[in-house]
Amino acid sequence: MNFDQPEYQKHVTTLFAEWRNALETHQFDAAIVTAGNGIPYYDDDQYPNFHANPYFTRWIPSDDVENAIVLVAPEERPQAFFLRPKDYWHHYPPIPNWLDSTFDLDVFENIESLTAELERRLHQYSRTALIGPDAGLPGNVNITEKNPERLVNQLRYRRAFKTPFEIDQIEAATQIAVQGHIAARKMFYEHGSEFDIHMAYLKASGQTEAQLPYQNIIALNEHAGTLHYQSYDQRPPEQHRSFLIDAGGRVNGFNSDITRTYSAKRDDGFSDLISALEQKQQELIDTIKPGIPYPQLHETMQLEISQILNDFGIFKCSAEAAFKTDLSTVFLPHGLGHLLGTQTHDVGGYLLNEKGDTQAPDTKYQSLRFTRTVEQNQVFTIEPGIYFIPMLLDPIRDSKDIDWNRVEDFLPYGGIRIEDNVLVTNKGTKNITRPIFQSFE
Ligand code: GLY
Ligand code: MN
Ligand code: MN
Repeated sequence: MNFDQPEYQKHVTTLFAEWRNALETHQFDAAIVTAGNGIPYYDDDQYPNFHANPYFTRWIPSDDVENAIVLVAPEERPQAFFLRPKDYWHHYPPIPNWLDSTFDLDVFENIESLTAELERRLHQYSRTALIGPDAGLPGNVNITEKNPERLVNQLRYRRAFKTPFEIDQIEAATQIAVQGHIAARKMFYEHGSEFDIHMAYLKASGQTEAQLPYQNIIALNEHAGTLHYQSYDQRPPEQHRSFLIDAGGRVNGFNSDITRTYSAKRDDGFSDLISALEQKQQELIDTIKPGIPYPQLHETMQLEISQILNDFGIFKCSAEAAFKTDLSTVFLPHGLGHLLGTQTHDVGGYLLNEKGDTQAPDTKYQSLRFTRTVEQNQVFTIEPGIYFIPMLLDPIRDSKDIDWNRVEDFLPYGGIRIEDNVLVTNKGTKNITRPIFQSFE
């Protein structure tokens, strides 16, 4: 998918209106948005991979923006300040030409000249907010308030609603991720190691590790029971039983976040369990429409998982009883999903409104990152799981509601997670992930 310039310009127009409203509401004349810059490891001259301030990425969707700054003032064209030093140690990609038609653009050779010009421009405003990190900005730049909470909350709340341009980017990030997923699955069925699968994913998705939205989760067998398993065994296991892959793509600063789980034998009890969960995940997605509180979806899935565990003979008690006593949370200990965009876990999931009122999740669902009501143009994940995690099972080993022999059957498989990204439409949802998988099958 190519970068659609007219769509981008419309996106910036929408964003500009959103920010102008937020600035006026909170009585600021201007905002500067800093991309940020890398902070080296402690006592070191090496840096972790750079991720731009996500508020900046909405303005300038690129990762080649270290030290760049956007200046937004209600009555003016947005301005972008880029740093392109004379530096023969590093490569600086050309400034994208799509910026010209949207921003007043200035390019500087060093941070001193950039900030001197910024300081000069900011003198015309009496109240300026900084949105982003302040590292690298000299103290004399005229900023009234850094990351004022009320203003940031309004911007955070609005970020949940994606423009057509942003949806295009998430779809493009899905296109590359799905190609990685298909190559990874093939490597699993060819009995590769976690490392082999990881490398196959990178190659097929066309991403270096530094470009990934988040560290690939590539888990074989019991490892699938560690929710964010982050090692890559170099040796294949003696037997391939199960494979959980949670891996995404990042395009122009926007992310996809996709999980699939496979059974090595395509007709064993574990593959039936995968199919049962997948069916419930799809059915749940079909029920989503504007107006439904997301925590209600999470609760419904907890009940559905109780039913699956009862159907598979793991729960001896009824699904209702398991749900009521929170037994299902031992098998699904994370939230059903989260907002997705310039961050894998887009912030603002607890914000009820632009004013910044929040809704915490129910105490029994502490890991749920999204408590808002479903609304049109939100993009979020639906990622139920069923896991067999010794650390969570051991404390309830005396429970008579569980058939422990059945648990023993499934422990060697680790667990299942199935994760799709969905866009909310005016009366339902569009599954962003599934049609792209189908287009490559
Ligand atoms: N990849 C992390 C998550 O699914 O939330
Ligand atoms: Mn994920
Ligand atoms: Mn996710």
